[in-house]
Amino acid sequence: MEFRGLFLPSLLLFSCLTATCYGMVTFSSLHRTLVVTASPTPGQVLKAGEDQITVTWSFNQTFQAGTDSTYKTVELKLCYPPISQVDRAWRKTVDDLKKDKTCQFKIVAKPYSSSDNSCTWTVERDIPSATYFVRAYAYNSDNVEVAYGQTTDSQKATNLFEVQAITGRHVSLDIASVCFSAFSILSLFGFFFMEKRKTRASQQK
Ligand SMILES: *[C@@H]1O[C@H](CO)[C@@H](O)[C@H](O)[C@H]1NC(C)=O
Repeated sequence: MEFRGLFLPSLLLFSCLTATCYGMVTFSSLHRTLVVTASPTPGQVLKAGEDQITVTWSFNQTFQAGTDSTYKTVELKLCYPPISQVDRAWRKTVDDLKKDKTCQFKIVAKPYSSSDNSCTWTVERDIPSATYFVRAYAYNSDNVEVAYGQTTDSQKATNLFEVQAITGRHVSLDIASVCFSAFSILSLFGFFFMEKRKTRASQQK
């Protein structure tokens, strides 16, 4: 009786110590079991808000069948290679995935399937100008990373592409045209009232 009363609390404590409370997942602990390819050619420059990326991913069959039995979802992300991280602490790679800033832009999340996965994504307008690669994380049913795959090598130096953000010139042109049209409407009203006053004044004479 005494024993059974202790069983549940100690089980909870144990699972708390091993998984839930101390849930640090390191990138270096993950196996690269996913094969990921993306449509941009090395060095290609994509325009944010316009150009598209097609990503395909699958389970690398050289790993033992069943390795992926715990995979539940896959999330594709746009990530910064070292060349984009120089002097930018806010993009820093940290082995603890909760603190890692390598992959900040989600492309898509999908239920896991071992083959024939493909997704086409228009580079969003808020993606900053930089060099990128694509990484896929596999998550288990607890939403914890269990594997990955990426379009570049382990040094994150090959097969990179660039995104060119909407330039400052475009933005200021947008603002200029908005201001201009607001000014035109104002002046239209202005002329309208001036004209009215003039006609009223001439009628009163
Ligand atoms: C699959 O994994 C093996 C072992 O890690 C690796 O040598 C091979 O290059 C991978 N295949 C692909 C297509 O990435």
